Amino acid sequence: MSVPWHSYIASELETLEKLMERDLESENPELTEMCRYVVGAGGKRLRPSLCILSYYACGGKDAEKPIKIGAGFEIIHSATLVHDDINDQGEVRRGRKTLHREYSVSKAIIAGDYMFAMGFRLLAEVAPHIVDYIVEASASMGAGEFVQKDFEHKTSVTEADYLNIISSKTAKLFEASAKSGAAVANTSGENLEAVGQFALKIGMAFQIVDDTLDVSGDPTKTGKAVGTDLIEGKPTLPVIYAMEDPEVGPQIREIFVKEFPTEEDVRNALALIQRTDAIARCMEKANDIAMESRDQLGILPDSKYKDALLDVADYVIRRER
Ligand code: IPE
Ligand code: IPE
Ligand code: MG
Ligand code: MG
Repeated sequence: MSVPWHSYIASELETLEKLMERDLESENPELTEMCRYVVGAGGKRLRPSLCILSYYACGGKDAEKPIKIGAGFEIIHSATLVHDDINDQGEVRRGRKTLHREYSVSKAIIAGDYMFAMGFRLLAEVAPHIVDYIVEASASMGAGEFVQKDFEHKTSVTEADYLNIISSKTAKLFEASAKSGAAVANTSGENLEAVGQFALKIGMAFQIVDDTLDVSGDPTKTGKAVGTDLIEGKPTLPVIYAMEDPEVGPQIREIFVKEFPTEEDVRNALALIQRTDAIARCMEKANDIAMESRDQLGILPDSKYKDALLDVADYVIRRER
């Protein structure tokens, strides 16, 4: 079996953990505890990994900067999860009770804001010239979440609408992480764009798989509940495809438009989706995009870090968590 991507940067990821823990220390013990509760619960560390691997694949040598930048991105990502769980009424995250359930909604909002600020501070300290990337990605995330809200419970949503939403809310942050790593390696403009496009596509494939796991995943592996997107009426690709099914599509639509679906509705919808080809179509779509992502790396010189990036492209498809 080939080496998994994270093995190439095991010691860097260890340093990253320590750095995040240190940087989330504040004067208020409860705030420190809350931030560490979220970040310390683990997570796949995909965004910092893309940052560090892109740095090396673009010829960088000493990883001090991309590790710090990666920590900034992971802290910002974790902040978005805290706020996302409040909005989505998520109960479990990273295998733990969500922050707002463990503490309170108001404190979790503040802790999320604090983490955003700490992440930005880290990035600005290390490399002020990359702040533009994260500013753009954060603005895009907010805008994408708004468009997604507009489509909640709306059967008019199309695949193209969906792809726009996930590009903004998820993929842009992946792009910004990878580009930031490449930028501090002082690479060429072409390489910078290539890793950016690579990561953008990885982010798209990643969110399609996330949405597919939401209807078909194993909560003991994903660390979050199944069916949450259906409760919220989120316009996700498996639902869009399932609604097209000639046989059970109409029943799924009926449930999808309900503002307050019952638990039974959600269970029924999940079972109906299983009877369609939606899950297989989603995985095919994610696979196609992941394949396109690989092509973007063609211009980078061969290296073990390029191999690791290519493994990330496979991983986003094969992952179960
Ligand atoms: C969850 O991201 C939010 C999405 C964009 C789907 P991850 O699945 O990367 O979450 P962690 O960091 O591994 O917990
Ligand atoms: C990702 O979407 C949200 C962010 C980009 C913050 P989801 O709502 O699908 O993420 P999960 O499934 O809760 O992790
Ligand atoms: Mg969510
Ligand atoms: Mg999800």
